[in-house]
Amino acid sequence: MELKRSLGLFDAFAIGLGAIIGAGIFVVIGVATSLAGPAMLLSLLIAGVVSALTAISFVHLARFIPREGGGYEYAHELVSPFGGFISGWMWLLSNIVTGSAVALGFAGYLAVYIPLPVNLMAALACLAITGINYMGSRESATANNILVVFKLVVLLLFVVFGLSLINGAFFSPFVPSGAMGVMEGAAVIFFAFSGFGRVAMISEEVRDPTRTVPKAIILALAVSGVIYMLVAVVAIGTIGSSSLSTSNSPLADAAALEGNVMANLVTIGALAATLSVLLTTLLGLSRITFAMGRNHDLPAVLSKLHPKRQTPYIAILVFGMLMTVFALTTDILKAVAISNFGSLVYYSIANLAAMRIARPTRGKVLPILGLVSCAGLLIFLTTDAWLLGIGALVVGAGYYYLYPRRKHGSSTKVGSRGA
Ligand code: ALA
Repeated sequence: MELKRSLGLFDAFAIGLGAIIGAGIFVVIGVATSLAGPAMLLSLLIAGVVSALTAISFVHLARFIPREGGGYEYAHELVSPFGGFISGWMWLLSNIVTGSAVALGFAGYLAVYIPLPVNLMAALACLAITGINYMGSRESATANNILVVFKLVVLLLFVVFGLSLINGAFFSPFVPSGAMGVMEGAAVIFFAFSGFGRVAMISEEVRDPTRTVPKAIILALAVSGVIYMLVAVVAIGTIGSSSLSTSNSPLADAAALEGNVMANLVTIGALAATLSVLLTTLLGLSRITFAMGRNHDLPAVLSKLHPKRQTPYIAILVFGMLMTVFALTTDILKAVAISNFGSLVYYSIANLAAMRIARPTRGKVLPILGLVSCAGLLIFLTTDAWLLGIGALVVGAGYYYLYPRRKHGSSTKVGSRGA
């Protein structure tokens, strides 16, 4: 069973940016600012460092195991089949909810122009994205490239035109809620960075993956980190943290100071950004299911490829539908916390896997820091997220041990795997 290698470095980098820059910077920035005040900049920095540490682990792992399924495959091979299953399971939970959250962010901005119920518009967006993913990765990548370029241009214009409007008074007091507020802000705004490992998920669709995937991960995280910092400085500096905190479309409100044209451009940019995250979220969901099905960790039917399009079309349809249903029933803030719980567990396990391939002692320092920092950020998530996350872990473990058709240890050895 082989996937088509149709993606080059630009596509892979754009899939990374497509997965990263979305509802986090356009919507969740307001929530993080309500927790940390202007020190949300520190929250952003902390979340960025946590992400960078784990991204370095992904870079090593992607070189070692260039397989569809990313972190799930790494854990399956290097931690244990059960560790791999839990990693994939939590990724699934996290990303179904991420998709719904991002679709709700999209609908929130669309509501500015179309006065329909937000949940309904979010569900329609999920259906549209399911259709695009069904058509194939080349088509998805092309749609994604266009959306990514557009959202980058909009954010850069927002920064360029906003810089001269910054009022230093908005940065004082800088840390109104103390260290706790900063850490809670970091745990929330981490959402803005999640997705940096997405390109590893589609390693078997990338040309020369052992070089291309690591480059794409680092480039995408570095570019989004710099843009986030600039956008956050301009957003706080132009309208202040209290206005940002109370808005459903915080960047559009900040952009309104730059004029009507800019406010509209930012609103359209938010639509493009959230759509591109949604697109790559479903792309990743279908691919991890393909990988988990191939290892008999999920029903094999989910990994079936479309005879012509060579995409795992059943997985695309099933997860597209689940995302649509959640988008009809979820609220964005709860969804962000649950999504972060799932992705932090997934990233923690990936760091554990990276420790297995790191050289003794010094080589293990970064993956250990990655693991500790992900686990540390989990502490600052809400009780709701913990309860739901632990519930999902228990259900996953139950499924793993009760699912009768799963063959333990069925995968091939790492060394025998072709890129
Ligand atoms: N990082 C993605 C976003 O901000 C999930 O939308």
